[in-house]
This record gives sequence, structure tokens and C-alpha cells, in this order.
Amino acid sequence: MTDIFDFEPRIDEYAVMGNPIQHSKSPRIHMLFAEQTRQSIRYTAIQVDVGGFKQAVGNFAANKGKGLNITVPFKEEAWALVDTRSDRAERAGAVNTIKFLDNGQLYGDNTDGIGLVNDLKSHYQIEIKNKQVLLMGAGGAARGVLAPLLDEQPAAMVVVNRTPGKAKELAEHFAGLGNISGCGYEHLTAQRFDIVINATAASLHGELPALPDQLVSAEGCCYDMMYGQQTPFMQWAAQQGVKTIADGLGMLVEQAAESFYIWRNVRPDTRLVLDVLRKELAV
Ligand code: ATR
Repeated sequence: MTDIFDFEPRIDEYAVMGNPIQHSKSPRIHMLFAEQTRQSIRYTAIQVDVGGFKQAVGNFAANKGKGLNITVPFKEEAWALVDTRSDRAERAGAVNTIKFLDNGQLYGDNTDGIGLVNDLKSHYQIEIKNKQVLLMGAGGAARGVLAPLLDEQPAAMVVVNRTPGKAKELAEHFAGLGNISGCGYEHLTAQRFDIVINATAASLHGELPALPDQLVSAEGCCYDMMYGQQTPFMQWAAQQGVKTIADGLGMLVEQAAESFYIWRNVRPDTRLVLDVLRKELAV
């Protein structure tokens, strides 16, 4: 005789926690992944008050939650909260993916950097190996992507920041992973880069750090980690005649896919999901 409980649908619970969270695309992305790969999951967005993060994660775990994405401003708190971390999360000092293990422990990873690398490689056919790479910004967003970028073995990685001391500190922190240095924008005049990545918060304010002409090689790539509109950095890249200009939507989808893989051990087809999102967002 078949046990009636065999027929109870089992839906695994996931969520993204942040503040603010109402405009998050993560629930949409993960539901598209779930539909595509026939995984039975629920994925919600949870707004968490500053000061209430640990409690919120505890509540989610108590309700049989299986995994969380963590976004601004809780990634560093998540790093401190988890029991074990991946190497890349360890180095980033930030966690954007938590997996609730069967033994009750919390495992933390950071999929932002691999999301950026995978987007560059698979959607834009940009290889980082042996390239001259410039990373603009030295805050959490920059720190989160540096280890996976250096793992790709660029010829040189320069971190440039409005406050040069922070760029130099970041370069020192990651010095063991490759040829990396830090400087201020005024030092960029004589250099030419193959890949320029904007990890500053400048685009959020409609601003652009002062960049010299001829900064990007003719066959180069400019990548803004922001998405949803043509940023001043992307407009500047177009004026400079840069061949490949990218927003951060692909990175968002790729980091989500890596989280999905960590939780479900299944890799979704990101291209299909990216196409759907671009149509929905009209970008
Ligand atoms: P995030 O976690 O998004 O990286 P953050 O830690 O506040 O946020 O870092 C923001 C980054 O954007 C910093 O590198 C900041 O430069 P400073 O360290 O000099 O503050 C950079 N940034 C913000 N607005 C900028 C602007 N208008 N021009 C240049 N850089 C800017």
C-alpha cells in the first residue's frame, strides 16, 4: 500500500534578504530557473530591518528554509554569521549565498565574482586571461568580485578609486592572487586597458568618475555592474567607440545560477532566462 504522505508536495523554501528589497529581480530569476529545471521551490523577497538580520535568518531556518541570497546591506553580516565559508567568500569578506546544511550549520558562499566572470565569458566571449583589467571602485562590490577575476589570471589588474588609499588596501589584500595594484584616477592617463569594470556606486547617482580618453583599447570591453538603464559609464564607452559594452544584468542572472547550483545541484540555462528578463525590463 502506498503511504498517503508520498503524495504531499514538498516545496523547498528560499528567499533573498536585503533592505530595500522590493525591486529585487531574484524571485523572478529563481522562479524562471525552477520552471526550466522542474525544481519544486518557493522563492520570496524578505525585507529585513537593520539590526534584525541574525533573527531573520534564524526564523527562516526554523521554518525549514533551505537557502538564502543576501544583498545590501547584509553581506558582511552574513559572512560573520555563517559557520563555514567557501574560499572565495572568505576572501571577499562578504556572503551572498547561504545554504542550510542538514546538520543545522550555515554554509556561506559568494557567487558575485563568478557571476561576473561567467557573464563576460559566456555571453560576451571575453576572456580575462592575459588581459589588462581595470576595476573602478574599492567598496564591497569591488571586493566581492576580485578573487574570481584574479583566478582568471589577467596580465595585470589595476584597482582605481576616488579615495586611492582604499584601492591600495584592496590591492594589498589580494596581492597573493596575482599582479594587482591600486591607484587614484589621476594616475590612469598613460595606461590602456582591455577590460574596464565599473564597480563604483557612481552610476546609482547618475555620475561618472573622470576617465581619460584612450583608456580602453579598440577591441576592449566596458562592463557596468549596474543594470536597468544606460549608465553614464556605458554612454562614455559608446562615445569612446568601445567594441563591447555590457550592463550588469547578465552578472545578476549568472550569480543567481551559481546560487541555484549550490542549493539544487542543477545548472539552469542562463541565456534563456536573460532573454526573458531583457524583454520584461526592456533593456
Ligand atoms: P558598494 O558596496 O556598492 O561597493 P560602497 O562600499 O559604499 O558600496 O563603495 C562605493 C564605491 O563607489 C567606492 O569605491 C566609492 O569611492 P570612495 O571609496 O572614494 O567613496 C565609489 N564611488 C561612489 N560614488 C562615486 C563617484 N561619484 N565617483 C567615483 N567613485 C564613486
